[in-house]
Amino acid sequence: MLPIFERLEGKTAVITGGGGVLGSYMAKELARQGMKVAILNRTFEKGQKIANEIISQGGQAIAIQCNVVNVESVKRAEEEVLHMYGNCDVLINAAGGNHPEGMTTNEIFNMKDLKDEEIETFFDLTLHGFEFVFNLNIIGTLLPTQVFSRRMVEGKGNIINISSMSAYSPMTKVPAYSAAKAGIENLTKWLAVHMAEAGIRVNAIAPGFFLTSQNHSLLKNSDGTNTERTEKILAHTPMRRLGKPEDLLGTLLWLVDDEASGFVTGISIPVDGGFMAYSGV
Ligand SMILES: NC(=O)c1ccc[n+]([C@@H]2O[C@H](COP(=O)([O-])OP(=O)(O)OC[C@H]3O[C@@H](n4cnc5c(N)ncnc54)[C@H](O)[C@@H]3O)[C@@H](O)[C@H]2O)c1
Repeated sequence: MLPIFERLEGKTAVITGGGGVLGSYMAKELARQGMKVAILNRTFEKGQKIANEIISQGGQAIAIQCNVVNVESVKRAEEEVLHMYGNCDVLINAAGGNHPEGMTTNEIFNMKDLKDEEIETFFDLTLHGFEFVFNLNIIGTLLPTQVFSRRMVEGKGNIINISSMSAYSPMTKVPAYSAAKAGIENLTKWLAVHMAEAGIRVNAIAPGFFLTSQNHSLLKNSDGTNTERTEKILAHTPMRRLGKPEDLLGTLLWLVDDEASGFVTGISIPVDGGFMAYSGV
């Protein structure tokens, strides 16, 4: 178990996508640290479930229905957080994801795929799929950042975005997601520079491969065995395992604590079992 960072007690953390797998672990850990946690999730019930778990453990949490791609929804959520918990000290942009129409079936294009209706090629990718993924990951990070940092500029603030291994070197089959996460890296740096004198730090965590609901079908066969893709990932992960959500929490606490990482802004930290460092040979 991680140590308690006493300075975090009583501060307010807002976590978009906090009802999801990675966001919920972050929410629970920050609540265990004594922070007041606001879970903003599109599906209210998912956020409420996590808030209830936190409350039953003696922590402070509220769930707020919020669609991160809708500015009015984000503004309403911000007002509710302000009313309940006061100013937001830490914003974690953990809502994000993929869409089937932004994915190809195969890693490499082959002419014969054009004749197979079952295969989604590059030419089958849809504008809808790309727009969905760009909106969710980029606009869905931009809007909460814009809305919550408005009050942060009057004091101090800390923003943590969630990137991906696919941002640095695009993963096969997921072009929309990869381009969107590359955008998150870029936006993180831009915001860090723009907001530095206003006292707001902006960083990112880039998780390696974690088994979650969104990527389950890519990583596991229906019988629970690893897919070929998972075996490939493990072969390229020097630590030879997938990540567990708990693996992100030490890095998260370090970034959240202004004393520990107060001179750190504009970086993205891979938490990936060595995946990024490995050239493959
Ligand atoms: N799982 C991995 O291996 C992995 C790796 C790298 C990066 N990530 C990133 O981590 C973040 C969290 O992913 P996860 O694996 O926990 O996924 P998840 O699907 O479990 O969680 C995402 C949460 O966001 C919510 N959400 C979706 N759209 C929303 C919207 N428009 N407004 C508000 N909430 C919305 C969902 O309801 C869900 O609760 C995402 O940005 C994802 O891209 C995941």
